[in-house]
Amino acid sequence: MGMLPEGLTANVDWISYFGMRSMGTVRAIIKFRSVATLRGPGNRVLTAVAGTMLLLLNTTLADTRDQAKRMHDRLTGVPPTATVLDNMQDSIDGGNAVAAAMIAMDNPNFYKVTLKNWATPWTNRDQTVFAPLNDYSATVIGMIKNDVPFNLLLGENIVYHANGVSKNGQSAPNYSASNNDHYEWLEDNDIDLAAELTRAQQQGIPAGATAGVMTTRAAAAAFFVAGTNRAMFRFTLLNHMCNDLEQVKDTTRSAGRIRQDVSRSPGGDSRLFLNNCVACHAGMDPMAQAFAFYNYDDTAGRIEYTEDTVQPKYFINGETFSPGYVTPDDQWDNYWREGQNASLGLGQWQARLRHGRQNHG
Ligand code: HEC
Repeated sequence: MGMLPEGLTANVDWISYFGMRSMGTVRAIIKFRSVATLRGPGNRVLTAVAGTMLLLLNTTLADTRDQAKRMHDRLTGVPPTATVLDNMQDSIDGGNAVAAAMIAMDNPNFYKVTLKNWATPWTNRDQTVFAPLNDYSATVIGMIKNDVPFNLLLGENIVYHANGVSKNGQSAPNYSASNNDHYEWLEDNDIDLAAELTRAQQQGIPAGATAGVMTTRAAAAAFFVAGTNRAMFRFTLLNHMCNDLEQVKDTTRSAGRIRQDVSRSPGGDSRLFLNNCVACHAGMDPMAQAFAFYNYDDTAGRIEYTEDTVQPKYFINGETFSPGYVTPDDQWDNYWREGQNASLGLGQWQARLRHGRQNHG
């Protein structure tokens, strides 16, 4: 997570963690965090994750005007106006640092720059912040601006766009399921996203097949393109459950749902399968089955959903281990609900993938 903007970097893991486990909103979390850091090390969990802010906002080292200025800089990337600074300082002096954080977050740069930079690495495989605004990042920004509970991120039929907005006599191209022109126009024209983004329904797939940002065009282009759809699982785990597969490897789960393309004796050594491959694939393959009907059509530039027809990518290299699992449908299972990963909160993941048929067996 090292590519994220300073100031939010240290807290991102915790924000995501908290967001997935509560009905909290990101703005509420950021404001809570800002205040906690102003108050100093009262809470050990917060202290651990908010180290950067704590150093910068240590009450013993900075007066309240300086604190207000630093809080504004960190949240927006720009210095406050004199009036904003006065108001923030008044709030801190009055013991209400929450209000000070909220004032700073009224600055359009909080949305346009800070949150855009925060969400952008989630939307591509390289995890780079240097990518254009897209329907995924804009949806994160819109949810935060509207205080939509962040645990709906992976489940709602939701997208934010600014159809109809214009600037200097030019109108934005409309949001489209098959290109990113709308969002690039918004960014190129420096549109105030907090003012203009509105909530809408996703285009390009049936409403019942939507799953929050996972079914945005940007996520599909990054994680449903080619491959075997395991990437969508891995990157969602990484970005929103704060764990890469290395951290959740468990060799004790049943290999019964590992697909045919995974060799059971890589290089002729079955121990490698049992000690390594199974650790990820036993849990990942039955979970990624939820995406069995999804694909990104690279030619058309859009997500594809083939209701009741498993995508061919689930059968490639089937001869590698032909007794392996042959995906019949999109019925997925969470084999990590038990074992060492039981405490991960992957039950939350299950709740998000509402469109897939969950097997309670
Ligand atoms: C740390 C977790 C992890 C381990 C361990 C692991 N894999 Fe994978 N595997 C993945 C992920 C993630 C993907 C999807 C990659 C993508 O599409 O970006 C994948 C994809 C695959 C694929 C599909 C083709 C491809 O390369 O995308 C095959 C085949 C495969 N793995 C075989 C194996 C074998 C054999 C082993 C043991 C030697 C193994 N894997 C160990 C995580 C793992």
